[in-house]
Parts: sequence; C-alpha cells; structure tokens
Amino acid sequence: MSVKQSYRCWAEVDLSALRENLGWIRHKVGPAVKVMTVVKADAYGHGLKQIAALLMQSGTDVFGVANLAEAHAIRSVGKGWPILMLGACLPNEVETAVRDQVSVTVSSLEEAQRLSDAAACLGRQALVHLKIDTGMGRLGARPADAPSLLAHLETLPGLVVQGVYTHFSSAESDAKFTRQQREVFQSLLGPLVKQGRAFEYIHANNSAGVLLEPKSVFNTVRPGLLVYGIIPPGPRKIPPQFKKLVRPALSWKCRVSLVKTVPAKYPLSYGQTFRTRKATRVATITAGYGDGYMRSGSTKAQVLIHGKRCPVLGRITMDQMIVDVSRVPGVQAGDEVVLLGRQNKAEIKATDLAEWFGTIPWEVLTNITYRVPRVYLGGHAA
Ligand SMILES: Cc1ncc(COP(=O)(O)O)c(C=O)c1O
Repeated sequence: MSVKQSYRCWAEVDLSALRENLGWIRHKVGPAVKVMTVVKADAYGHGLKQIAALLMQSGTDVFGVANLAEAHAIRSVGKGWPILMLGACLPNEVETAVRDQVSVTVSSLEEAQRLSDAAACLGRQALVHLKIDTGMGRLGARPADAPSLLAHLETLPGLVVQGVYTHFSSAESDAKFTRQQREVFQSLLGPLVKQGRAFEYIHANNSAGVLLEPKSVFNTVRPGLLVYGIIPPGPRKIPPQFKKLVRPALSWKCRVSLVKTVPAKYPLSYGQTFRTRKATRVATITAGYGDGYMRSGSTKAQVLIHGKRCPVLGRITMDQMIVDVSRVPGVQAGDEVVLLGRQNKAEIKATDLAEWFGTIPWEVLTNITYRVPRVYLGGHAA
C-alpha cells in the first residue's frame, strides 16, 4: 500500500505548479522587481517549511510572514533569506526579532524606539520597513505623519529602514479606491526620491495588485494567493489570459467509506435537515469539518467521484459527510474523492468551495486542519 493509499483525508501539493506560478509572477513584473512571497499561516495551508524550501530553490527574493515563529521555521530550512514580519512586533518579541535579523513592520515611533533600544543592547542592527496606512486602517503610520516619522527613524541608533510599504484594502474590487491609495503612497515617495533617498524595498501590490495595478509595482511586489495558483475573486475584470497562466498547487482528497441505497423521505445526517425525495444511492466519505471542510457548506457543496459532481446531502459532520452518488455508477468503498482540485475533466476550485462555505479562498486554504497530511509531488522539498 502506498503512503497515499493509507490516508483517509489528505492534501496533495504540486510543487511544480508553485514553481511555475512564481516564474509567471516574475515574468509579469519584470526582472528588476523583487518578489516577496507571502507564506503566512503555514504557507496558506500548503506547509510552510516545504514551500519555503521550494520558493528558495525557485528564487524568491524575500519572504512575508505574520509572526516570528513563521520566520524561525523559514530560517530552519535556509539561513540568510530576507524575511519581513507583516504583523506588528509585540514588545516582548523585539529582542528575538533583532537577534534573528527578521525585518519588522513599523508604524510608530514607539515601536521603532523599542527596536533601536534592543539593537543597542544586542549590538546588532534592527531591520525595519515603515508601513504607511493609505486606507486599510490596520497597521501603518498616517500619511501626514509619515515624512517626519521617517526622518526620526533615520536618527535612531541601530535602526535600518530597509523598506517602505502600504497595503491595498480592495485591489480586487475597487479600482478608484486603490488608485487613491496608490496616489497617497506615491505623493509621499516623490519627495524622498527627489532627495535621493533610496529604499531596498518599496511595495504595495498583493496578488490582485500584481494582476491589476501595473502602476504600483515599485521595486517589490508582495503576492500570496497567486503564488498558490489562485486568482483573487472580485468584481474587477482580470484579463482572461492571466487566469490560464497560474494553476492551483493544492488538491484536497478523501475516500468513500460506505455506499448504500436509502429509501424516499429518508433523513440524512444530524438534525434531519435533509430528506431524500426518492430512493437514493449515497456514499459516506472520510472528510468533515474536523479536516477544515466547513460545516456551512452543508447541502450546498459538491465533491468529485469518478470525475462527476456529487452533492453533499445534509449536515457536514466532524469526520464524515454523505454525498449523492445516484448518477455515478460503480462507486465503491476506498474510491478517491476530490474535495478541491481536478478529477478527469471536472474541477472544483477554491473559489467554488469559498462560495459554498460563504467565505473567501484564503480562508478555505488556511482552514484545512493539521490532521490532513500534506503530500508533496513534482519536486524536491525540505
Ligand atoms: C500585508 C499583506 N501583504 C500581502 C498579502 C498577500 O495578499 P494576497 O494573498 O491577496 O496576495 C497579505 C495577505 O493577507 C498581507 O496581509
């Protein structure tokens, strides 16, 4: 029995897809632009260490993480890669950030002062990117305060301002607001450039920005979802050819555990929220919300068996769910079920799951739980 055959519910990560997606992003932004691959939340559920190793081999310039634990995991795979912590650095994390030479997002003088103090204590440099809040409201200095803050940061001993950045709140949905954000950011950069001030990293574009905002490439881009092969959904029109140039790296699978026929008017699953209309052939399958398959998809979601779409009937339970296989002949216990990905000519996309679950593809991926083993195909990983 192969390793895969022994799994009840697992995810397959195609490393060649990731490599190609990064290659396409590089091609799109041009050779002079650095790519910061965002690998927060276990590399969007793909497995941080393996994906970091692959991205190092594929030439990522810098990693974007949420916290120092993620930075540490990357360092355990390969030393020396630049890392930016996109989240704020808590007071009790400052020393570790400086010691580990992780670049830190700074929005205020207090944060910068703490880092400078730690740098002095440790005899090291504190690396920072100044974030400017142009309309996201989460982190970042107010634009009006940014020039004086930057001037102040540059006087702090041990502090090295490696970059300046901002974050778009609506790049996939609101062109006008995104343009306003860019213009605010550019109006601050302009005078600095005139003064001859250069930054190693100037960045704004997330995945939607990479696809839709060529004017805000600056010298670095910061894609996440796109690296994993998913186009951010939204009302803004993405050129159709782009959609063919990246492909999803992750497929999610489980197995049929039991097949049976139930009579008409038969209640299925907890709470009897669903009853069959006629005699129905159903399969119980080995995935549930304990694996991250969200319960909100009950009676809405579909899975693939033998390349055919099979609707989920009744409530999704912790480890199992029931699907209609009336239109799929020959289904047997042990057959492979695709929850996300391709089977024969059929495909279920992360955006489909997101719609059924009432969420976004980012959450679909990061919600796949620890008990789902990640199996790596198509390349060497850590
Ligand atoms: C600050 C920041 N930059 C970039 C990204 C990547 O975004 P996306 O996955 O939409 O490319 C994120 C993701 O949450 C983020 O928080």
